[in-house]
Amino acid sequence: MSLKFEIHPSANPTPEKERAAKLENPGFGRVFSDHMAIVRYRQGEGWHGARVESRAHFPLDPAGAVLHYAQEIFEGLKAYKRDDGGVNLFRPDANAKRFRSSAERMAMAPLPEDVFIEAVEQVVRIDRAWIPGGEGSLYLRPFMIANEVFLGVKPSAEYIFSVIASPVGSYFKGGPAPVSIWVSENYTRAAIGGTGAVKCGGNYAASLRAQAEAIEHGCDQVVFLDAVERRYVEELGGMNIFFVFEDGSLSTPPLGTILPGITRDSIITLLRDSGTVVREEPYTIEQWRKDAASGRLKEAFACGTAAVISPIGKVHSASGDFAISGGAAGPVAMGLRKMLVDIQYGRAADPHNWIRKVL
Ligand code: PLP
Ligand code: COI
Repeated sequence: MSLKFEIHPSANPTPEKERAAKLENPGFGRVFSDHMAIVRYRQGEGWHGARVESRAHFPLDPAGAVLHYAQEIFEGLKAYKRDDGGVNLFRPDANAKRFRSSAERMAMAPLPEDVFIEAVEQVVRIDRAWIPGGEGSLYLRPFMIANEVFLGVKPSAEYIFSVIASPVGSYFKGGPAPVSIWVSENYTRAAIGGTGAVKCGGNYAASLRAQAEAIEHGCDQVVFLDAVERRYVEELGGMNIFFVFEDGSLSTPPLGTILPGITRDSIITLLRDSGTVVREEPYTIEQWRKDAASGRLKEAFACGTAAVISPIGKVHSASGDFAISGGAAGPVAMGLRKMLVDIQYGRAADPHNWIRKVL
């Protein structure tokens, strides 16, 4: 299926000087570009009304389904400015596929993958002036909400799909400096049969109390344990996790209840390309603590679109704290970060065809 997008450029785009000031130090997720894409769905009619227009408020009926039963999903991907002035997207097909599986899990209308990609590309094209230079990027946030006006609990018959864009720098204030994480012993994120493996807003709502606890304990992020035995490390609030061992191998928690991260998958592929052993296997918090103390564990790092690759320096929990590699950024995490970022910005070869040149 393909839909033709009507393009309606903003009559009042942000003046150049104001835009340049906003791009100087954008942080993460507070600055927005001038346009958005929008596509609507109605049962019986299908996907229709594809438009790119000025970023504006959505009129929402107070009985709209998303406001009551949280039928909402989203994605996150970035557009990168190449040295030759062109623009790359990184694996947008993988985001489109995951968005589809999120929709299926949440009983929402699946959006055709080519419509997802087209919407993202249209926003990048019209708002290309909003892509920061240097190590910044334009974070794209495709999302879908249920907007049937009905209070019965059932899958909505109407949806709005939209893409907004936000110029970003680093997700963490300290850039790629090591982050500290808090082990959540009171709250879990996902159980088998739940929604952990999809990107629905509800997962993040349910993580906020644990994330607040992390902040209260002076940590940057929360790490969740499995919901059954409360021992196996699963993932952070918004990132997957890897462990680096002294024999040169790595491990990462297996798929199931965690989000199948595109960064995670890319890292596994890059490591295997270079002959490095990566295991997708369960790892307990007790073992993590022991391995950090004995020196068997050399590094740990978090990864995701927003966070890229961020070394983990310190782990705090109600049952005690420990440091990894003395709290410093390790060479494996930093080397992988460079390898990945070089592909994303078009500075290195792309043997897996991950890059989609938009401009
Ligand atoms: N895990 C969670 C809970 C996330 O929110 C994210 C971010 O999207 C990730 C992992 C990493 O996924 P990706 O690498 O596709 O951005
Ligand atoms: C992303 O990395 O794209 C996410 O959605 C995670 C969130 C913490 C911003």
